[in-house]
Amino acid sequence: MAPPSVMARILSVLMPLAILLSPAAADRDYHEQLDLKPLAGSSLLASFNFRSNTSLTDFDAHNYRYFPRSLGQLLQHVGTRELHLRFALGRWDAESWGARPWHGTKEGGTGVELWAWLDAQTEEEADHKWLTLTNALSGLFCASLNFIDETRTTRPVMSFQPEGDHSPEAMQNMHLLHGVLPREIVCTENLTPFLKLLPCKGKAGVSSLLSGHKMFDASWQSMAIDVRPICPAGQECVLQVEQTIDMVLDIERSKRPTVNPIPRPPPAHEMRCNASKPYNSGDACFPAPVDQGIEWSLHQVFGKSIQGTCPLTDPEVPPVCIEVPDRRSIFMTMGGAREVKQNGLQKRCYFFPSEGAFSLVLPALPYEGPDAMTPADEIVQPETPLLYAERTFTGYGQERGGVQTILTNPSPDSSVEFVYMQTLPWFMRIYLHTLEARINGQPGIRNDIVEEIYYRPALDRIRATQLELRMRIPPASTVFLTYDFEKTILRYTEYPPDANRGFDIASGIITILPSSAPGSRTSNLRTTSLMLSLPTPDFSMPYNVIIFTSTAIALAFGGLYNILVRRFVGADEAGEAALGGLKGKIAGLVGKLREKIKGLKAASAAADAKGKAD
Ligand SMILES: *[C@@H]1O[C@H](CO)[C@@H](O)[C@H](O)[C@H]1NC(C)=O
Ligand SMILES: *[C@@H]1O[C@H](CO)[C@@H](O)[C@H](O)[C@H]1NC(C)=O
Repeated sequence: MAPPSVMARILSVLMPLAILLSPAAADRDYHEQLDLKPLAGSSLLASFNFRSNTSLTDFDAHNYRYFPRSLGQLLQHVGTRELHLRFALGRWDAESWGARPWHGTKEGGTGVELWAWLDAQTEEEADHKWLTLTNALSGLFCASLNFIDETRTTRPVMSFQPEGDHSPEAMQNMHLLHGVLPREIVCTENLTPFLKLLPCKGKAGVSSLLSGHKMFDASWQSMAIDVRPICPAGQECVLQVEQTIDMVLDIERSKRPTVNPIPRPPPAHEMRCNASKPYNSGDACFPAPVDQGIEWSLHQVFGKSIQGTCPLTDPEVPPVCIEVPDRRSIFMTMGGAREVKQNGLQKRCYFFPSEGAFSLVLPALPYEGPDAMTPADEIVQPETPLLYAERTFTGYGQERGGVQTILTNPSPDSSVEFVYMQTLPWFMRIYLHTLEARINGQPGIRNDIVEEIYYRPALDRIRATQLELRMRIPPASTVFLTYDFEKTILRYTEYPPDANRGFDIASGIITILPSSAPGSRTSNLRTTSLMLSLPTPDFSMPYNVIIFTSTAIALAFGGLYNILVRRFVGADEAGEAALGGLKGKIAGLVGKLREKIKGLKAASAAADAKGKAD
């Protein structure tokens, strides 16, 4: 592989040429941007966004332009109108980090999540196309998407709406299918195919910062691919493909030297303690929170610098933006770079030359002296989310359990309306009559909280439970939503190899409906996935039996064989035989035979002599 800088240079020469050769190409058809935002507690949110437009007439004529060919051919083959694919890891800490990036619309549940609108006349045709789609995507993204079978596929009724523009005729034949794999571990092998879909392939532009080492070390991480048709009024329809990567990196952890990849606790003299705790002493330390004023730079946090710009992007749009208070200084590592202030926002954006490595450095804040910083200068305060959600298991034992979801509306004056969808595997049998919504401690299901329920019960080994609730929570209230379920005993072969680890239950999906306030839009959030432990047979039993019988046989056979084959010889003979290995042994045996024969002869001669004498 060519080094990135050479690659970037080749790309920067070839790509403008390609654009010149196709006069239809507008220079606004590809967009990429990196938004950085420090969060509370030494965290840094990095949002990468890559977007491209391809006109639908070009696409239908198999002229893919910026659209990734492999994906384009697949989507055409299975008649996909809209596609959304998510890979996610970790947990978004809403209490300290605030509202989610992109209003949660680019986020997925833990593992892999896929939903698509397929063009089909009947449900069977849609199922068939879905199967083809999941199998092909599985190959394309090196993920086990082919495990999304009918037991993991649902058809959401209230939760998802198409994002693109579709004609009313097209809408009639569109089928929405949704599948989740909460168990899938997202890793580098999923990032590589993701980068391959980009026009600059991660060799130039902001995507050159992405590497598996830092990305999968993040506290929270989500990769998204969205394909949707957009028809602006009075213009030709375009097919937009948007790729997004969001991650929350730990600045402190990313500074760890590469020669020391294992996170070890710091030595005692380097620990920063909260000295105001009553028990603080030489051997008792309560760690003080890491403050935001620490120094960091792009190349430290990502492990590399940006390798020039991607030549396809609009030169008028700055590729990197940082959201920090104005008093914090930012330095650029390369001459020729330019800073632009975003009007009215605490946000600064950067242009940089098309070649060479580029990085940004944020020095540590001075805490003493005339221009000392206050905590308010450290980070831009995050937005409060519209809703907090938290889901846990309750109960104990191997037979029954319960699920509790705590939903909190932090707003002091407006209520929040949303759809809460849960897909539960068939082996978790829920009792719908136990569904209860308690508000601020008052029991009983209340119609003013749960407005509508859509429930599709599970069928054993055929389909999952689908539960969608439309709810409204009044201002400054907390709702406890609970229900009970029964655990099933699976068949012996249905347990995974690591049966005692438990079974992953997919995240609950919350779609917050737009309120009447102007500018309000749909936003999403997802709870964490759950780990359900089912009654598990003792899989070690067969092994114990096998090991025990094997030992018994080995002992019996060994002893018997030994008795049958072993010969007892005199010490003087053994010494001779031991001398020459196998040869010696054979010689010894031959010698022994000879002696025996001689002995026999002598004996018979003696007998003869005796007989004659008689
Ligand atoms: C693509 O098309 C949409 C709709 O016309 C437009 O808003 C957007 O700026 C275009 N370009 C990119 C790169 O998304
Ligand atoms: C240290 O502990 C005290 C007492 O619990 C607390 O009030 C204070 O906020 C803590 N300091 C820091 C920097 O967290």
